[in-house]
Amino acid sequence: MTREPTETRRETEREPSSPHPRARLKRKDLLGIRELDPEEILLILDTAEAFKEVSEREVKKVPTLRGKTVVNLFFEPSTRTRTSFELAAKRLSADTVSIATTTSSLMKGETLLDTVRTLEAMAIDALVVRHSMAGVPHQLARHLPIPVINAGDGAHEHPTQALLDAFTIRERKGRIAGLKVAIIGDLLHSRVARSNIYLLTKLGASVWVSGPQTLLPPHYEELVPDGLYVTPKIEEALEGADVVMALRLQLERQKECFFPSLKEYAFRFGLTRDRLRWAKEDAIILHPGPMNRGIEIASDVADGPHSLILDQVANGVAVRMAVLYLLMGGTPA
Ligand code: CP
Repeated sequence: MTREPTETRRETEREPSSPHPRARLKRKDLLGIRELDPEEILLILDTAEAFKEVSEREVKKVPTLRGKTVVNLFFEPSTRTRTSFELAAKRLSADTVSIATTTSSLMKGETLLDTVRTLEAMAIDALVVRHSMAGVPHQLARHLPIPVINAGDGAHEHPTQALLDAFTIRERKGRIAGLKVAIIGDLLHSRVARSNIYLLTKLGASVWVSGPQTLLPPHYEELVPDGLYVTPKIEEALEGADVVMALRLQLERQKECFFPSLKEYAFRFGLTRDRLRWAKEDAIILHPGPMNRGIEIASDVADGPHSLILDQVANGVAVRMAVLYLLMGGTPA
């Protein structure tokens, strides 16, 4: 009994054995994947690998960011991203504050910039922001001296989602280079797809995207110099795929009618067991969540033996710990 507090303290204070104990990202903010080079991406993935075991300990905490404060500012709904940023910060011993934008002074007409300057005056150390307008995190980053992390901006980028997807793929497949990844669904509104395309092609995967013509952005193949293939034929995208990612149909962003009915969408583009026969036998299934079950993905696929959807969620905490650590200058081991 008397040994317990000491053991708990030791456990709490044991830093993970980072492969890059003094590494930092060579930038103040994480705003997108497009501007990262492959070495920076690999640094984040390797650091996340070292942090993953912290969440498997009985005492899920290390002192890395003790005394620092992370603020979450989300202008759009979120379960996974907001909770995992909060857990990641807490597991690094940082203090966290989540601002409820609907009950903040933004509702009284305060500008976003005045709001974040007000938060910064209270000596916060990092800001995590999600907004429906592309570019908002970039604008805030230009005005703030602290790290700003993009937790999703409109249909532009969702960098930490792509990082956790890549982490999950690498964990299961052992590599990214040389894999065929099929991304199926609502490409037009998907920041997840854009960030994944940047990341996976930088690391040497070939990415095939498919969905209804109306949800395939024009000139989409020009997003990256090479490695991206666009086809309206879902079977062509799925054929021989090592990884299949279903995208959420973002009905809240769709101001016009892009397809005749949800039933028809599910029939033509939903990931079903039958359709997945085109992919490799050991293909893994990803979905960023939240899922529209029975529309973009059948329940028996989402819950099936090849699905890594809950692994993605678990890995999100480790990846966000790595991002906070690399941007906020935590104590090296
Ligand atoms: N994948 C994702 O961003 O999920 P949330 O909207 O729940 O954060």
